[in-house]
Amino acid sequence: MEKENLVVFTGAGVSAESGVDTFRTDNGLWMNHKVEDVATPEGFKKDKDKVNEFYNNLRELESKKKPNGAHMLLSHLEDDYNVTIVTQNVDSLHERGGSSNVIHLHGELNKVRSLSNTNDVIYWGDKPITKEDNLRPHIVWFGEQPLDINKSIKSIKEADIMVIIGTSFNIEYTIELVNRCGLIPIYFIDPNPDTTIFGDKEVTFIREKAVKGMSQLYEILNKEKEINYN
Ligand code: OAD
Repeated sequence: MEKENLVVFTGAGVSAESGVDTFRTDNGLWMNHKVEDVATPEGFKKDKDKVNEFYNNLRELESKKKPNGAHMLLSHLEDDYNVTIVTQNVDSLHERGGSSNVIHLHGELNKVRSLSNTNDVIYWGDKPITKEDNLRPHIVWFGEQPLDINKSIKSIKEADIMVIIGTSFNIEYTIELVNRCGLIPIYFIDPNPDTTIFGDKEVTFIREKAVKGMSQLYEILNKEKEINYN
């Protein structure tokens, strides 16, 4: 039997239990930093040192974090499904948890781009960058286009099962993006999910943190599989 396509759309919540800060909740990143200063092309033009320092710090912090149970279970799903992860996260925890097919809509902290040719993406690891390097973080800033959007749309359109984990859907285009899926089973794991974004589509809400929620989903999918085989 051919494997079904399972697409997972993730946000900061999937990495929260690894100790990575979310953006808008509690002590989130955007509560303590001005978006226009550290996450816009204009902010970078104005003060490269400030922006580099912000991402140097995040890059170093993220390199010390470990994938959690949710990242691990997502990679185990590859035994039974064609899994595509479409993530807004810039950490590498999905890859380090073992997932092999990850699309990073908002870039990756461990990569940088040359300022003389911004198509030139370079793996950089956890090292800091300075103004003299003539580089910028490989991060999509506000006002810039998300990466690999067509590839993401194609995956979502072809999904047989859709899973959403830990995102507030504050970034508007993401609502339209996930709604490209058909009338398929949709699972949304988040302690505080936005229940409005899928309109009339049927959604199973798992109102838990990512680790517990993913283990519940794993059981649900296994049960579904048994029913399909009988
Ligand atoms: P947000 O901080 O906006 O939302 C985090 C979501 O995670 C919320 O819905 C929380 O309820 C949920 N959450 C918190 N802890 C959780 C846990 N342990 N398990 C599961 N869910 C949990 O983060 P995002 O929606 O990812 O973009 O933000 C989207 C984008 O906005 C980011 O990629 C970033 C930001 O501006 C750029 O920087 C371009």
